[in-house]
Amino acid sequence: MSKGGSLKKEAWEVLRKSIMYHHGMPIGTIAATTIDPLEDMVNYNQVFMRDFFSSGIAFLIAGEPEIVKNFLLMAVQLQGDEKQVDCFTLGEGVMPASFKVTVDQNSNQESVEADFGDAAIARVAPVDSGFWWIVLLRAYTHSTGDHSVANSPQCQLGIIRCLNLCLHDGFDTFPTLLCADGCSMIDRRMGIYGYPLDIQSLFYMALRCGKELLRQDRDMGAFVERIDKRLHALTFHMRQYFWLDHNQLNNIYRYKTEEYSYTAVNKFNIMPDSLPNWVFEFMPNKGGYMVGNVSPAFMDFRWFTIGNFLAITSSLATNQQANAIMDLVEERWDELIGEMPMKCMYPALEGEEWRIVTGCDPKNTRWSYHNSGSWPVFLWFLTAAAIKVGRPNIAHRALEIAEKRLLKDEWPEYYDGKLGRTIGKQARKLQTWTISGYLVAKLLLEDPSQAEMLFMDEDMRCRINPLARSSSSEGG
Ligand code: GLC
Repeated sequence: MSKGGSLKKEAWEVLRKSIMYHHGMPIGTIAATTIDPLEDMVNYNQVFMRDFFSSGIAFLIAGEPEIVKNFLLMAVQLQGDEKQVDCFTLGEGVMPASFKVTVDQNSNQESVEADFGDAAIARVAPVDSGFWWIVLLRAYTHSTGDHSVANSPQCQLGIIRCLNLCLHDGFDTFPTLLCADGCSMIDRRMGIYGYPLDIQSLFYMALRCGKELLRQDRDMGAFVERIDKRLHALTFHMRQYFWLDHNQLNNIYRYKTEEYSYTAVNKFNIMPDSLPNWVFEFMPNKGGYMVGNVSPAFMDFRWFTIGNFLAITSSLATNQQANAIMDLVEERWDELIGEMPMKCMYPALEGEEWRIVTGCDPKNTRWSYHNSGSWPVFLWFLTAAAIKVGRPNIAHRALEIAEKRLLKDEWPEYYDGKLGRTIGKQARKLQTWTISGYLVAKLLLEDPSQAEMLFMDEDMRCRINPLARSSSSEGG
């Protein structure tokens, strides 16, 4: 058997061992199956909503949708529970970060216990959970052709509740979603508060998927119109203000500040002096990306992987921007892929900046964990994006690099170092999304048509292409 073939076989074996059952039915996969029985699992023995996404896609591609269906129904049931953190009642659309099955010692009865951030380290809110749920529900429906789950009253209500949380009126002047730190895959303080890209791309994808799944025979006109309006504004905002290429970098570098009135060019009053030195080296002549965050006098220039790749698969990015993002990945291969695909963000925060932004978090020291560590799970994001733009070779190249290490290293959660050469200091072994992320990438490259369940076409009513107005994505 070829190296890739035996790796695949091993991966499936471990993935199946991670399945969690409830009343004998598979309902998800736990975050990591431990090698060392004495290891403190913290909450890695739970089913995480975000972690299950890649497992779910692997099972869908393999033609085993049952576990995905059970997971989707379990999650929506948990969403309906009343949940409190201290004395505060959470919004009814919130979905848990994770859940587990517990067994009562006396009665032997099983029950499912969910963590809505009330038990999580630092009490972080999982803003992404409900979005992943909607996107998986759409993938399930697309892949199986079974509309009965999405059409069920509980799932319809689940979609409405989840999106309602994000669409209600507030004090916003931006269509992006305001988030606290630690609200997504990066579930520790990492300076992503505000309007983090990873969440905006996922929000966009969830709005699109939710709209597609909502039954139009209900009296949904006004709600769908709210979704449409938000999508339109969000598309404009992201393509226009989050986009950075060499040309735009140059514009910001020469920005005037303190501009008042509707004709302001520097709308958010970004100070050119806030441009970090690294960005001038990082920005290639050919290529571009969506920056990490934009708000008044603040642009987080860091690269974030989930947000950029989901912007491609969801068509939040224009076709031209999508290609420019992949150009940048190729141009900055060592920085982003190195010896293990791939970094969750770039670059790392160091020294004083690390102290202030992370609150001295020792797990997030430079080039480790969320602070620019390398996570093999991103292989599937990279692969889906590469297929979407018709450049699968980029993913083939990355997969080959990963295949040299993953099995030998026992599927670690993440890698450390500028090139991702060292197994992460506190990385779990047999980390489930490392395994399923690899599997999804492998399976998608074998049959790219499977990636359709992860894609949205460009929404033609939201056509706005800022690159057409700037000189080109190629700067120069
Ligand atoms: C860590 C990661 C989070 C993941 C969880 C389970 O907390 O930061 O993104 O969901 O582990 O793997």
